[in-house]
Amino acid sequence: MDQDLNGRVVVITGAAGGIGTAMAEAFASVGARLALVDIVDPSKLAARLGPDHAAWSCDLANPAEIARVVAEIGDRMGIDVLINNAGLGIVFPAEVTRIEDWDRTQAINLRAPWLMAAAALPYLKASGRGRVVNIASQAGIIAIAEHAAYGASKAGLIGLTKVLALEWARFGITVNAISPTVVETPMALVGWSGEKGERAKAAIPVGRFAKPSEIAHAAVYLASANAGIVNGENLVMDGGFTVQ
Ligand SMILES: NC(=O)c1ccc[n+]([C@@H]2O[C@H](COP(=O)([O-])OP(=O)(O)OC[C@H]3O[C@@H](n4cnc5c(N)ncnc54)[C@H](O)[C@@H]3O)[C@@H](O)[C@H]2O)c1
Repeated sequence: MDQDLNGRVVVITGAAGGIGTAMAEAFASVGARLALVDIVDPSKLAARLGPDHAAWSCDLANPAEIARVVAEIGDRMGIDVLINNAGLGIVFPAEVTRIEDWDRTQAINLRAPWLMAAAALPYLKASGRGRVVNIASQAGIIAIAEHAAYGASKAGLIGLTKVLALEWARFGITVNAISPTVVETPMALVGWSGEKGERAKAAIPVGRFAKPSEIAHAAVYLASANAGIVNGENLVMDGGFTVQ
């Protein structure tokens, strides 16, 4: 089925990470041109996926860097799709979470998606069919112990998604979120391996965690022409965990 993503420019933040890399591969496979953004230089990934892609190193905690990088991407390539995927999970019991960890979590997981989207708006408008996909988490809709800063940031991101969806629909732009369960990336498996991981999987109706490619293909759908009626949605990809 034609997703009308051939030649469209897709900006992916956190592209060097587990889910970001799967996103880059999925969007490249449908012919998109990628602008990969990460604090870890994603230029090797861009080169591996083909000659049409480009990479930017950027610390998303820094608003000035976001403004510079989005303007560079937009002026050089245009922007049709923005995937706010970069994120940070610092987990501590709420009462001992450090202020600097709280602030860094909100800066990267919540403030950066807002600043990225706001800076990309002129280009998304010019696209005529702009798309924003924010990678939130099941921790944004249910309580997970030791996830106070993370859960608050992801709940905020789901709220931001809805407001942008409301404000920008008139420009032909849709804004949606994806909220996964644990996704089997190397980073996530450090925290969810062994007995703790097995217990968590047993509590999920489908009996397993998500694969990065499953999240990536959902993002491709939300970015596609076919998803134009989906706006302000939070697609929960948790194997049925939160239906209970
Ligand atoms: N893996 C999971 O279990 C899971 C579950 C639910 C939601 N998520 C969300 O999915 C997204 C991707 O997670 P992942 O599992 O691929 O994690 P990951 O750690 O593999 O990737 C995150 C990427 O974000 C980048 N990043 C971090 N801080 C940055 C900064 N200041 N500036 C620019 N880039 C920065 C990292 O360098 C990394 O490449 C995150 O938003 C995460 O919260 C992950």
